[in-house]
Amino acid sequence: MKVLVATQKPFASSAVKGIREIVEKAGHELVLLEKYTDQSELVNAVADADALIVRSDKVTAKVVEAAKKLKIVVRAGAGYDNLDLDACTGHGVVAMNTPGQNSNAVAELAVALMIFMARTQFTPATGSEIQGKTLGIQAFGNVGRLVGSKAKALGMKVKAIDPFLPDEKIAEGGAEPAKDLKDLYSTCDYVSVHIPATPQTIGSIGYDLISCMPEGATLVNTARKEVMDEAGLEKALEARPDIKYVTDVAPDNISVLKEKFGTRVFATPKKMGAQTAEANVNAGLAAARQIVDFFQTGNVKFKLN
Ligand code: 3PG
Repeated sequence: MKVLVATQKPFASSAVKGIREIVEKAGHELVLLEKYTDQSELVNAVADADALIVRSDKVTAKVVEAAKKLKIVVRAGAGYDNLDLDACTGHGVVAMNTPGQNSNAVAELAVALMIFMARTQFTPATGSEIQGKTLGIQAFGNVGRLVGSKAKALGMKVKAIDPFLPDEKIAEGGAEPAKDLKDLYSTCDYVSVHIPATPQTIGSIGYDLISCMPEGATLVNTARKEVMDEAGLEKALEARPDIKYVTDVAPDNISVLKEKFGTRVFATPKKMGAQTAEANVNAGLAAARQIVDFFQTGNVKFKLN
């Protein structure tokens, strides 16, 4: 079987080496398509692939249609908003993700971004400390829970909300359950966003939530840019000159935000939450193992469609 690894943002070389070992040891062939700049390159490369490993690469209906031999696609990571699941299902392609494998990297970045903003983007201006402050975690999944435990170790109070978890589970995870989203945003000095991009969440964080944050609060987004209502964010930053926004996923209006709000806004140059060698190895190797196992035993654990 031909296994294509298509990554606009390549895995660390240690991860590629590990993926190759797993795939070739099982008797399959590994093909790499890295740093491609045009979707047509993926469409061409996937034509004779039996399996596909991607990161945030867009697996559109066009890609799936072009992949006449494709049996399985694995998103090496958690969020699968880049996969057209209906197209996969329609063409009999099993789609999977590798939940939890890169969570620690994203959680570490969320904490780093909080400190970066608290310390005035590492300028000499007087900053503040995160110890003693309250952190609100929006979605208490793999990443959210890790952010919570790291924040507690740094002396923060932690609150959380998750529509899929009862309060007891949030409390068991070490956080105080927030009553609702408004409660989370209005009582936390920092809010860290860990929701996926779904039809329900897209554009869901806007003026109403952001503008009710306490004096000097910071909103941290290491999730997806799509969950933000960008016009609402801009309006809230305008109305509340004390509020800051830091994100690993630059909004489309980032240049306007930077121009208007200067150092109150920061976006990483390229999405880097999961960009550690460890996360690449964990997620990449898990993807390779899931594919080998699928071909060997038909195991469809982590199937999304
Ligand atoms: C994820 O959903 O797993 C993260 O957003 C990481 O995405 P990436 O692999 O494209 O960096």
